[in-house]
Amino acid sequence: MRLEVRGLTKAFGDFLADDDIDLIVEPGQVHAILGENGAGKSTLMNMLYGILAPTSGQILIDGNPVRFSSPSDAIAAGIGMVHQHFKLVGPFSVADNVQLGREHVTRGRLDREGARQAVLSVSQRYGLALDPDALCEDLPVGVQQRVEIVKALSGETDLLILDEPTAVLTPPEVAELLEIIGNLTDAGMSVIFISHKLKEVKAIADSITVLRRGKVVAEASPSDTEAELAAAMVGRSVVLTVERPPADPGAVALEIKDLTVLGERGTAMLDGLNLAVRSGEIVGLAGVEGNGQTELARAVLGTITPDSGSIEMGGTPVTGWNPYRRIVAGLGYIPEDRGRDGLAGDFTVAENLVLNQYRDAPLSNRGVVDATAVRALADKAIADFDIRTRGPGELVSALSGGNQQKVVIAREFSRPRSVLVAAQPTRGVDVGAIEFIHRRLVAERDSGTGVLLISAELDEILALSDRIAVIHNGQIVGEVAPDTPREVIGQLMAGHRPADPATAS
Ligand SMILES: Nc1ncnc2c1ncn2[C@@H]1O[C@H](COP(=O)(O)OP(=O)(O)OP(=O)(O)O)[C@@H](O)[C@H]1O
Ligand SMILES: [Mg+2]
Repeated sequence: MRLEVRGLTKAFGDFLADDDIDLIVEPGQVHAILGENGAGKSTLMNMLYGILAPTSGQILIDGNPVRFSSPSDAIAAGIGMVHQHFKLVGPFSVADNVQLGREHVTRGRLDREGARQAVLSVSQRYGLALDPDALCEDLPVGVQQRVEIVKALSGETDLLILDEPTAVLTPPEVAELLEIIGNLTDAGMSVIFISHKLKEVKAIADSITVLRRGKVVAEASPSDTEAELAAAMVGRSVVLTVERPPADPGAVALEIKDLTVLGERGTAMLDGLNLAVRSGEIVGLAGVEGNGQTELARAVLGTITPDSGSIEMGGTPVTGWNPYRRIVAGLGYIPEDRGRDGLAGDFTVAENLVLNQYRDAPLSNRGVVDATAVRALADKAIADFDIRTRGPGELVSALSGGNQQKVVIAREFSRPRSVLVAAQPTRGVDVGAIEFIHRRLVAERDSGTGVLLISAELDEILALSDRIAVIHNGQIVGEVAPDTPREVIGQLMAGHRPADPATAS
């Protein structure tokens, strides 16, 4: 399919999210869209997929103008899309989610077996392993993304739109996805690929369009350097490495002792895990996603209760405390899944910025919230973190994905902490914001906070950590210095301990 977009514009009120966009996607090619958070990428895709009606402009498929009034029109025209935010129904199985919206009914009953077979055939054809009977809510985010991809490929798809498909994937899953995309384009499919990870874009794109504030600002080439691409995106040069003086660790700020958390089927998600974070240091937790990172973060916050073991903050046992009490005691928390644990979508940007402190002075006085103080704090956070919003009163759900993440980050950095758990802190944010967040994490450390950094990006762990702990099967299988070769960390991530006689040669 050859897709052409002419003068496409989307206005929300008097704000132009996309302004006179021209774009051509050739058949069998990967066309990447780069742009900072809020540039208008997802809005453009939503017009191509029939979710949003363009304010003006034209979409042409193989030279013929088309008009979509819903996603089913786009699907019928051969367009599939994987959204930036999952649209899965948690309590439904994988197969039920994949056939959602195109159910087959045989003699008045849902054809469940047909749906299972459809999943198995797509997942086999493209090498995307999936259990059709698993409930989506039980799956790690990486696997949920795979369900979305299988769903998008289940129609007669000629153009696949992937809106930040790799944001939630582990490095091996990313490599796998890039290979799958190669197979798709070899078979003649066109792909629109959105990512903030310049390495991936360079590796896979045939052509690149750069958006900024709703406008096409450049057509770039995959042979451009990362620095050139970053500069085109944000309109200034970006420092891609982190300046970091040596740490000066103090007393233990967070201590996790023999922590065990059992999963639903009685298997140990955390299996007697021990880990200590000192004040003034960043401890990076490396590991393949699904090895207990989520459970560890939630246990430290207090949203899951461990089956045994203890958690101490500054020497005080907090294991039995509720999350609010821990937050008041100095815990900061950036959750891996901002939609579920980080934001209240129906609340405004300002309300979300003060969720963790509106009950306290100076924002509250004898139980009455001081709206002026809240407003001042929100204005400052919006300016400091460059949150692209029409103002503190806008609903947070109207913000672009990366700007929602900035709201969470700004809130958690808005007051001093003794402990900060940062899970995937830069997921979905643009290169300019990554630079800023990394600097802030180092500044937190230098102000004496003990930082536990959980990240699926080994690059991020290596760039920021003073010490690296590797998690595997719910246990810390090794602690290494940040100058340890990647291969050694990779071995540990796969569960091979250095002293393991099975792997020693
Ligand atoms: N339904 C809506 N109502 C009002 N404003 C919206 C709506 N959807 C998007 N916007 C605004 O349009 C702009 C572009 O948003 P969009 O989601 O397209 O950005 P993006 O380039 O995908 O960013 P990100 O990289 O963060 O995902 C943002 O400023 C956003 O706040
Ligand atoms: Mg987006």
